[in-house]
Amino acid sequence: MTHSDHKRYYTRFLNGHEGKLHFAAHSHHFWPDVTREAQLRYWDDTALASDEKWNKIFGEVIPKAQKHIADILKLKDPNQIVFAPNTHELSTRLLSLFIGRPGLSILTTSNEFHSWRRQILRLSEIPEINVSIVSSENFMRDRRGVINDLKKELAKKPDVFFLSQVFFDSGVAFTDDELQEISEAVEAQTIMVVDGYHGFAAIPTNLSKLEGKIFYLGGGYKYGQGGEGVGFMVVPKGHWRPAYTGWFAEYAHLTKPAGAQVGYSDDGMAFMGATQDPSGLYRFNAAWDLFESEGLSVEAIHTYVRELQQEFLKGIPKSFIAGHNLTPLFDLNLGWHGHFLTFEAATLEEAEGIQEALKKVSVLIDRRGKRLRFGFGLYQNKADVHQVLERLGNLAVKSQ
Ligand SMILES: Cc1ncc(COP(=O)(O)O)c(C=O)c1O
Repeated sequence: MTHSDHKRYYTRFLNGHEGKLHFAAHSHHFWPDVTREAQLRYWDDTALASDEKWNKIFGEVIPKAQKHIADILKLKDPNQIVFAPNTHELSTRLLSLFIGRPGLSILTTSNEFHSWRRQILRLSEIPEINVSIVSSENFMRDRRGVINDLKKELAKKPDVFFLSQVFFDSGVAFTDDELQEISEAVEAQTIMVVDGYHGFAAIPTNLSKLEGKIFYLGGGYKYGQGGEGVGFMVVPKGHWRPAYTGWFAEYAHLTKPAGAQVGYSDDGMAFMGATQDPSGLYRFNAAWDLFESEGLSVEAIHTYVRELQQEFLKGIPKSFIAGHNLTPLFDLNLGWHGHFLTFEAATLEEAEGIQEALKKVSVLIDRRGKRLRFGFGLYQNKADVHQVLERLGNLAVKSQ
């Protein structure tokens, strides 16, 4: 099997999916081959140094991962980036800042990822916790309206304000300027948190103007291409003392006698937890060392993905959309959008049926309820897109 262009980085995953068209890069992005060697390097480091491996992890591996993330997001201070096995853990650690305070008010949107949605829904059962949800369902058609609604709610000075950079159930994205505008409506007592999971390493994001003002969550499972275990958070400078804390939050001081007060690192590490599998960080570093050495920036990846998306949209059979009564949830001009394109079916059954039918012809996509998501990535090329289009065409004809 030969792999042209960027496919050469992904031979193992492509071989693993031989004969299939994996268009779910937004769900589980393929990992470049170099991540396999990185995984083994982690094992070898452990065999060589056992508990002393942590010196290398804290001294080299974490700083390198912080530097890659800071470069990708155009941040000046890599030390303000903290890691956890996933972003949910970091968001709950953030919420733990409020334990013991009278009441908690949270402002969020209607289209947040399941972990946060579930967590907030559960917390809203507690009488002292007040949750306001602004509908972002119509964001694609009325960006100004949603931004104004958020600003109106922000004037009430909630304790926590949480929103996605790119909505997981549509791919519709806030621009850097829109996030900046919204952040200007955030009063000093409100903590603003951006869930950047579908933006990070996909949409070129410049956080330099927001550095020090917002928390930003992201991870390696998708476009970060390092897989599990690379949840991260960009933390504004401050003396943070989350109540949910573990010994890694004070790792640098462990050899000193433990004081009566719970100490915290004075940088992003204040939000660290406890022992975690660091192999994801090895994989993440290997992927971004590779892209750096190949001169493949997030901007270049984004341009490539947009070209694939445009090719897809140019050729998408009208019969597929009309025949299945699908509603595209993206602006056809694709001004500013995540790396997946979403189509909403009229019913859950129809969406399930289409996903199944596509699977039968070896086109792998994913689905969130009635919404079918087609994800694009470096390991696909235009020939793959043409094949998907052909199979969509056949599908539409057959089911009519
Ligand atoms: C918007 C968004 N946030 C976060 C996550 C991942 O969350 P966690 O790191 O808590 O598993 C996902 C995963 O699909 C997501 O789509």
